[in-house]
Parts: sequence; C-alpha cells; structure tokens
Amino acid sequence: MDSNAHPKSQVQVSKVGIFLVRALLVAQSAIVLTGGAVRLTKSGLGCPTWPECAPGSFLPSPHQAEDPLNIWIEFINRLLTFLLFAIALAVVIWVMKARRRDLHTLAALQVLGILGQGVVGGITVLTKLHPTAVGSHFILSIALIGGAVALVERTKGYPGRGSNAATAAIARNLVRALILLGLLVITMGIVVTGTGPHAGDLAAPRFGFEIRTVAWIHADLVIAFVGLLLGYLLLLHFAPVIPEPDLLARRKLETWRLLAITLAQGAIGYIQYFTGVPEALVMAHLLGAVLLWSALVRHGIRVRAFSRVAPSPSIAA
Ligand code: HEM
Repeated sequence: MDSNAHPKSQVQVSKVGIFLVRALLVAQSAIVLTGGAVRLTKSGLGCPTWPECAPGSFLPSPHQAEDPLNIWIEFINRLLTFLLFAIALAVVIWVMKARRRDLHTLAALQVLGILGQGVVGGITVLTKLHPTAVGSHFILSIALIGGAVALVERTKGYPGRGSNAATAAIARNLVRALILLGLLVITMGIVVTGTGPHAGDLAAPRFGFEIRTVAWIHADLVIAFVGLLLGYLLLLHFAPVIPEPDLLARRKLETWRLLAITLAQGAIGYIQYFTGVPEALVMAHLLGAVLLWSALVRHGIRVRAFSRVAPSPSIAA
C-alpha cells in the first residue's frame, strides 16, 4: 500500500478494485476526447435522431442522407457509452462484494451520471447541437471525472484520518479556491467553444457572443488561476502548512506538476486562438483540460480540501 494511504491500514487495497476504478477514470476521460472527435469531424448529427440512429432504426441505415463517415463516428461514440456503463456497473458490483460502504454513493452516482449523460446526449441531438446542451454534456463529464478520481483515491485509502489530516486550513482553503476557479476556467472555455467555429455540424446554433471577449475572459481567469497556484506554491515552500516532510514533498511535487500542466495548457490555448483553432490543437486543449482537472481534484482529496477537519493547533492559520 502507498505509504501515504490510510494510516491505520483498515482499508484493504484490492488489486481488482483499483483496476476497475482506474479503468472507469480512463473511460470517463476518454469519452470526453471521443466526444471532441465527434464535434471536430462535424459528425454531431451523423445519427440525426435519438435514441434511434436513424428514424426507425437503432443501427445506422443504408438509406440515411448523412455521410457514412459522420454516421459511424457518431454511432461508435454512442456505443462507447455502453462500454462506460458496463465498467461503472462492474465497479458497483465490486464495491458491494467487497463491502466497501464508503464507496457506495460514489459508485452509484457514476451509474446515475452515465444514464444522465444518455439523456443530455439525446437533448443535444434533438436541439440540433445547441451549445448549452453540448456544454452541459461536457460539464456532467467533468463532474463524473471528479467522482471517478475520488473513487480511485478512496479505493487506495485516501484521505487517511491520521497525519495527512494535518494540512493547515489556509492551504486547504487555497486548494478549494483553486478548484472553484478551475471550474470557472473550464465553464468559460465551454462558452468560448460554443461561440467558436467547431459546432459539430455546419447548421448548429451558436451562442453569438463576440469571440474575442469570451476568449479574453477565459484567458484572464487562467491568469488568475496561475497567480493563485503560485501563491499556493509559495505557501507550501515557506510556511509550515504540512508538518510531515514526506507528505510535504509529495504535495509540492503534485503542485509543481499542476503548474506545468497549466502553463502547457495555457500555451496551447493562446496558440490555438491565434492560429484559427486547428482541430489537432483543440483536441490537445481538451486533453489538457481533463488532465488538469483530474490532477486538481486528486490534490484536493489528498490535502483533505473536501473534508471538515480541525487543523492541528500548531499550524492553524
Ligand atoms: C488552465 C488553462 C486552461 C484550461 C483548463 C482551459 C480549458 C478549456 C476548455 C475546457 C475548453 C472547452 C473545450 C471544448 O469544449 O472543446 C476551452 C476552449 C478554448 N480555450 Fe481554453 N483553457 C485554458 C487556457 C486557455 C488560454 C490561455 C487560452 C487563450 C486565449 C484559451 C483559449 C481557448 C479557446 C480559443 C477555446 C475554444 C476552442 C474551440 O473553439 O473549440 N484557453 N478551454
């Protein structure tokens, strides 16, 4: 077991369990990228109806007017949801068999969330890819990825109740603020996409904002995020917010990684903005968003940003 896991070792770390929850996290992240591929290849209405692919047929029909490439890209993406659902069900079965009551809610929420994604996906098709529906689809994925990260961390025994609880309140509050700001950056990114040219179909509605303004607000939020992250790094380096040296070293490394991903993601963002949003860079930007979000939530769980613990008096902020 990881030395940073549950200190009392009450949690038996099961290899099957870890494999399943990791597979779920990978699948939840991958479906964001395949959804991006649907949008970027203008295949969003490859299956023009829902839940059927073509009127009267759940499978692609040879009589469809759409380009076969678009039909199959959209259809395969729909099939991937079933694979994701099967993995989530496998996680639920494992959680029940392993009697991991602490994971019941998180596992059940994954199944419900995927069913919800099916409905939001249907609304997306029926509204002819309205950007609010497309964006809600993405936001729900972001929530599901956060939940899958929590499942992985809890399966491994994080966060323990012992020494890793001893992160000063100021550090935990800063991480909470980073997570909130990260969510705002992502939401604003979705608004930029809903305003930009990659709608998923040539006839799809757009938000109609001025692209410069929304991209500018998105980038300004990123600058605020970088500032807060630097402040947090300074705190980790110069204030006694985590007294255990081993834990402090791990949290510092994670935070430097967060900074590296953010800067790379910001660079991709600016380059894609000034080069007319080429598809390959949009995909890279999507991947960067998913990686940053997972790393941020993972860090939040490890510093116990989501739980109410009284900080140790010696390091109370
Ligand atoms: C922490 C850094 C950043 C994060 C987490 C982030 C996140 C996102 C997300 C989630 C989207 C929506 C993607 C989609 O729906 O396909 C997006 C879109 C976008 N972002 Fe960022 N972004 C970051 C930095 C930047 C920066 C600095 C710029 C510079 C202007 C930028 C420019 C854009 C543009 C132009 C789009 C629209 C792409 C399209 O039309 O498909 N991003 N961003």
